Amino acid sequence: MKTIAIAGATGAVGKQMLECLSEQGINANIRLLASARSAGKQIEGYTVEELTPESFKGVDYVLGACENDVTERWMPWAQEAGCVVVDNSSAYRLDEKTPLVVPEINPEDIFKHNGIISNPNCSTIIALMALHDLHDLYHINDVICTTFQAVSGAGVKGISDLERELKDPDAKPEAFAYQIAFNVIPQIGGFDANGITSEEWKMQNEGRKILHAPELNVNCTCVRVPVWRSHSESITVRCEKPVDLDVLREKLANSEGVKLTDDPAHNIYPMPIDTTNQDLVYVGRLRHDPADPTGRTVSLFCAGDQIRKGAASNAVQILKKLIEADEK
Ligand SMILES: NC(=O)c1ccc[n+]([C@@H]2O[C@H](COP(=O)([O-])OP(=O)(O)OC[C@H]3O[C@@H](n4cnc5c(N)ncnc54)[C@H](OP(=O)(O)O)[C@@H]3O)[C@@H](O)[C@H]2O)c1
Repeated sequence: MKTIAIAGATGAVGKQMLECLSEQGINANIRLLASARSAGKQIEGYTVEELTPESFKGVDYVLGACENDVTERWMPWAQEAGCVVVDNSSAYRLDEKTPLVVPEINPEDIFKHNGIISNPNCSTIIALMALHDLHDLYHINDVICTTFQAVSGAGVKGISDLERELKDPDAKPEAFAYQIAFNVIPQIGGFDANGITSEEWKMQNEGRKILHAPELNVNCTCVRVPVWRSHSESITVRCEKPVDLDVLREKLANSEGVKLTDDPAHNIYPMPIDTTNQDLVYVGRLRHDPADPTGRTVSLFCAGDQIRKGAASNAVQILKKLIEADEK
């Protein structure tokens, strides 16, 4: 039987990965790794071990769920041990030798790996799940997107900021620059000289790589909102060709991993409360831009659980395809 290690197993994404492994029917020996602080903790009957240079001996696959600096420290140890890593950090996403994969969109890229496969940014996965059919049908040139990102997107510290502030609005924030309870914060990541944040760049840089669309332009505003879980996004795209919304609806209704929730007459549209704790990305509010008479500009709203499809379940889907190919 193969051995899978989860690096960062005590975090928001790592814990979810363990659940996704059994949900997706992956039978393996499991090792849970985290910092020395967590060594000895019990999760689902497994004992957490401290991640050390020896941790990856005898491990076939690693699911990475640590921040970039921690990941960059242990990645050479995993490579040295011959493991194939599916990593959730952004450390290797734009590396030329590292595929960046959403299995419903570019599964063929998985097998071009050089020992590491990166899982894309959570908002990027959710946006592209909503957009890739539109891109296939009408070729997207430009995207304007505003994200509404849940506190759990910042890991366990993000969740505990909101928990503490709901009890005591004077509690000092730790994960965010400002109080998030009863507030929204239009900053995720650091700003560059042009006033664009690192999180905002990810959708263009990663979107181009996943869609194999080097000309794609994305103008993104990322906003943290006081929602526990599931990111939502308001997206407007300009396409090469006029968009037939009925054709698009038909395509989305049959798209793997997508649920079309687009019935404004009955107040049906995507909301994060409905997408939490499941893997589908909901897409709705489909409409033409009335200011564009050519019919090439379309707006939509989407939502998806960023710890699941935006991170853990996407990574486990990739791992499952790797294991299936290795077992053939
Ligand atoms: N949260 C999301 O929605 C989301 C979505 C997509 C991608 N991501 C990415 O996924 C990664 C994990 O995010 P998260 O939200 O799960 O973070 P998190 O809740 O803060 O968890 C971080 C994990 O890293 C471990 N860790 C910290 N220092 C370590 C060390 N020195 N050695 C070994 N392990 C160490 C922690 O272990 P201890 O508990 O022992 O400290 C914990 O298991 C990040 O790169 C993040 O950007 C997150």
